[in-house]
Amino acid sequence: MRPFILRLLIALSMALSLSTAWAGVPNNRAEPAYAEEQTILQAEKDSRSPQPGLADKDSGRVHMDRHYLGQYGQKEGTVIVQRGGNQWRVLRNGPLAMLSGTVLVLALLAVFLVAKVVGKIKADEPDTGRRIQRFTDWERHVHWATAITFIILAVTGLVILFGKKLLIPLVGHDVFAFIAYIFKYLHNFVGPLFIVCSVLMFFTFLRRNFFRRIDWLWFRKAGGMLTHEHVPAGFFNAGEKSWFWLGVTLLGLVMSISGLILDFVSFGQTRYVLQVANYLHLLGATFYIAAAMGHIYIGTWGTPGAYHAMRHGDVDESWARAHHGIWLDEVKAGVPVGTFDKRVPPPDHPPPPGAAPGNVPPGVRP
Ligand code: HEM
Repeated sequence: MRPFILRLLIALSMALSLSTAWAGVPNNRAEPAYAEEQTILQAEKDSRSPQPGLADKDSGRVHMDRHYLGQYGQKEGTVIVQRGGNQWRVLRNGPLAMLSGTVLVLALLAVFLVAKVVGKIKADEPDTGRRIQRFTDWERHVHWATAITFIILAVTGLVILFGKKLLIPLVGHDVFAFIAYIFKYLHNFVGPLFIVCSVLMFFTFLRRNFFRRIDWLWFRKAGGMLTHEHVPAGFFNAGEKSWFWLGVTLLGLVMSISGLILDFVSFGQTRYVLQVANYLHLLGATFYIAAAMGHIYIGTWGTPGAYHAMRHGDVDESWARAHHGIWLDEVKAGVPVGTFDKRVPPPDHPPPPGAAPGNVPPGVRP
């Protein structure tokens, strides 16, 4: 038995050393794009301006343009070093990261400024005790599923973007490596879930978000934020509709398309396409997160009663009168949402004195 084990061990160690030796032999079938590299180096040598240093933002420009022209195309897998990647790295870690950080800090400051200067927008009258259903269970679940996946993506995405600069000095390399690993996978898996939620959100709230004539009044009066007046509004006011179209829909599309390109890399997209998708994803995320700060503030501290509506589904009648008077009148009249919007005259032409009650903007009280 013993000689057998000994022979087995010798055979194993020989196999191991053989395979190690074999790994050391260059792979003759590898395609390092050598001729390509030579051509580029020659072109750069011939050009009047010398090839910029690696840290220069122009580094790799020639290569990136060639890449854009489909130089590598299907053969992306054979590219070992894509020097256009350096330009992406310099842009992403430099001006884009700086722009993103600046926009986010300014947005946070703007929210604090509004909170300080404008303060809470409360209902004029005390609560009546009469509750009105505003959102169904389905609407609330869709909203929270989208909101929770959004927050997970925002936090994990910001750690991917700024973590190296901000977290490594605080927690060290080991802890950061662990956090980054978990967050990266969380982001990659929650992304597609967020897309499903956003699509459901879009169709659930679409009908109530079409702009109507009355919305111009809201824009002109900046939602009454500076004058503290309640501008008449239907189920959603013009600010909420803007968030729906520019945030949830437009930025949602930018994030979803660029996110899918980055998430599923095995569909033949080149590094160049990934780099462009990354620029769009990064910029889209910046503006989406900045706008979401405003949305979250207005939906919680800024408008007492609004969070309760999305949490439990109902509002007090005085809240509905103050913030969505036209909608309240529709509920009371038992007509579909949006019916009374059409009867509201444009802001420049108020109804003549003594006009029939039906022509008076229902949200406005004398
Ligand atoms: C609105 C929601 C989203 C936000 C706020 C967001 C935010 C971010 C941010 C800030 C980054 C870092 C960019 C960088 O480091 O240059 C990132 C990376 C990424 N995002 Fe998103 N994202 C969102 C949605 C999505 C979706 C829907 C998907 C996929 C379907 C996705 C997939 C990815 C991937 C694959 C990366 C690269 C991760 C890596 O470096 O491994 N994201 N995201």
